[in-house]
Amino acid sequence: MRVAMIGTGYVGLVSGACFADFGHVVTCVDKDASKIERLEQGVMPIYEPGLETLVAKNVEEGRLFFAIDGAEAIRQADAVFIAVGTPSRRGDGHADLTYVYEAAKEIADLIDGFTVVVTKSTVPVGTGDEIERIIRERRPDAEFAVVSNPEFLREGAAIGDFKRPDRVVVGTDDERAVAVMNELYRPLNLNESPLLFVGRRTSELIKYAANAFLAMKITFINEMADLCEAVGADVQQVARGIGLDNRIGSKFLHAGPGYGGSCFPKDTLALVRTAVDAGSPVRLVETTVEVNDARKKAMAKRVSAAADGDLNGKTVAMLGLTFKPNTDDMRDSPALDLVPALIAAGAKVQAFDPEGMHEAKALLDGVDFRDGPYDAVKDADVVVIVTEWDPFRALDLDRLKSLVRQPVIVDLRNIYRPEDMRARGFRYTSIGRA
Ligand code: UDX
Repeated sequence: MRVAMIGTGYVGLVSGACFADFGHVVTCVDKDASKIERLEQGVMPIYEPGLETLVAKNVEEGRLFFAIDGAEAIRQADAVFIAVGTPSRRGDGHADLTYVYEAAKEIADLIDGFTVVVTKSTVPVGTGDEIERIIRERRPDAEFAVVSNPEFLREGAAIGDFKRPDRVVVGTDDERAVAVMNELYRPLNLNESPLLFVGRRTSELIKYAANAFLAMKITFINEMADLCEAVGADVQQVARGIGLDNRIGSKFLHAGPGYGGSCFPKDTLALVRTAVDAGSPVRLVETTVEVNDARKKAMAKRVSAAADGDLNGKTVAMLGLTFKPNTDDMRDSPALDLVPALIAAGAKVQAFDPEGMHEAKALLDGVDFRDGPYDAVKDADVVVIVTEWDPFRALDLDRLKSLVRQPVIVDLRNIYRPEDMRARGFRYTSIGRA
């Protein structure tokens, strides 16, 4: 099959490279000339494990191409994927669909022969209808079907998620589109990764419902963590104790500083807005959004408590800045709330992140960025573990202890065991463990 992928952001690039690796001929299109130029030189715009190798391999084998002008690729394509950004619109939290509709117009003018237009971007219910209307209006003669095919890729694990998904959701009732989508995903092991064909609106909603449910699950265990601290219980044992019940499931029950990233915050908010507009509010999701926002803001208080309630003039070392490990993404990271609050309380902040420093420097003022974890903790009064990167799990704790001013650790990801840390002479606090 021939595929044109519009947008070489996170989703577009990973999906494009993976489809090429499935054996299809893929052109990734982006208006950003410098991005395309760098991609052609093998330089990735994002950090994602395995992506650079996968791109290089498929470019070399002649299945993956990059272009600023997508005209040729779109004309030849069996399927054109729209994988452009849908940021939160400033002011009202609705998804901003400007780039999606621009792409739809561009595609409309180029369709040649039966073409499946697929939305990979996360778009509110009804967007597929509007894309269809836009294309039909510009090209009454065109033969096409608009399909919803949401992505469920986790940053840091995106290639594995694409190639071995729990399921692939496809929203369409067009027979020819069903055949094209089946062919595109044919290399999947269908026993483990079934294709689920549903209506287009249903498919659009599944994406939001999945993200909202996962965000709610995390928020639930975060509240349980606070309760554990209050009543003297252990949240990790609670998570295991409930997670072994198959009806609940053990994943996404890891308590922490609140969820961040490019999807959960944006998608929960957009779902709340869609539901209000539809006259059918989703109050659990509304509360999830509120509780999570408040949680991220409350993390600074934990750091302050560890410093005997006074951060003025003290040095706080932050290990990790990204919203989760194995990514350089800072979007809605808890660190973005934590750093300004610590600085406002009079603290000096030193920080290190294995991949996120470049992004973080653009977003965080007043931070002393350091070259490594040991450099970051030098003379610190409090060390805060913000992101559970592997190198922080394997720290030489004796070395760390010899470098800090006070052996105080606030572990927002529960990567160490309280009893071990106490035995080593640290004053250690974590999440939901008395
Ligand atoms: C998420 C979805 O998992 C994915 O299906 C969707 O397509 C995009 O959004 P991603 O944002 O990459 O993926 O990361 P994910 O691993 O889901 O983590 C999201 C946030 O939740 C992170 O801030 C993470 O630290 C937090 N989290 C996750 C927890 O606090 N506890 C958990 O148990 C799991």
